[in-house]
Amino acid sequence: MSKNYHEKIEKSAGWLAILTVVAISFGTLVEITPLMFIKDTTTPVDGLKPYTALQMEGRDIFIREGCTNCHSQMIRPFRHEVERYGHYSVAGESIWEHPFLWGSKRTGPDLARVGGRYSDDWHYAHLMDPRSVVPQSNMPGYPWLEENVLDGKLTAKKLEIFRSFGVPYTDEDIAGAEAAVKGKKEMEALIAYLQSLGTALK
Ligand code: HEC
Repeated sequence: MSKNYHEKIEKSAGWLAILTVVAISFGTLVEITPLMFIKDTTTPVDGLKPYTALQMEGRDIFIREGCTNCHSQMIRPFRHEVERYGHYSVAGESIWEHPFLWGSKRTGPDLARVGGRYSDDWHYAHLMDPRSVVPQSNMPGYPWLEENVLDGKLTAKKLEIFRSFGVPYTDEDIAGAEAAVKGKKEMEALIAYLQSLGTALK
């Protein structure tokens, strides 16, 4: 009897398609639904701070310049990763990330905990000309970031949008956003962003 059922389903493209979708949907629900109710995945880690206005601009430059094409921001819980990059990434660290920049492409090293690993001067030299500090590097230089100046016109809007996603920006943060970045170089913003990465988890 059951053998017959199996045969019928396998021989009918329609039933096979429908039941496959049902099976996968069920599996997806079982895996994903609990995550929406587990505290570890829904609350920020202690000490997590929203990006400052300058870091927020830096993050957008990171996206614009395609740094994500070569750098992930997700340390997996494997010994060889943890020894190289530090504590593995946890969900509560990227709760205010919209969108996440976890990625998986690693032409360069993971950057999830690069904050504080190097000085601002090192980042400056590295971004201007990577081979000046890492002779074997194949990372491109980004010298124009030193010339481009931020006008801050959209910064408040960006914080507002993040606030609408639940990031706890205050009215003062938003009111002061333009003044906080106006006239600063893109290079400074990008370095401020890099220096913030992964520093919340103690
Ligand atoms: C074509 C691939 C590529 C792109 C695009 C790229 N990088 Fe890199 N990056 C690398 C490689 C390879 C290294 C390792 C060698 C080195 O340190 O230069 C690296 C290293 C780094 C490091 C040092 C990490 C560490 O732990 O030592 C930082 C920081 C960094 N990149 C930031 C950036 C930023 C910011 C951007 C975008 C503006 C960017 N990278 C774009 C390939 C890339």
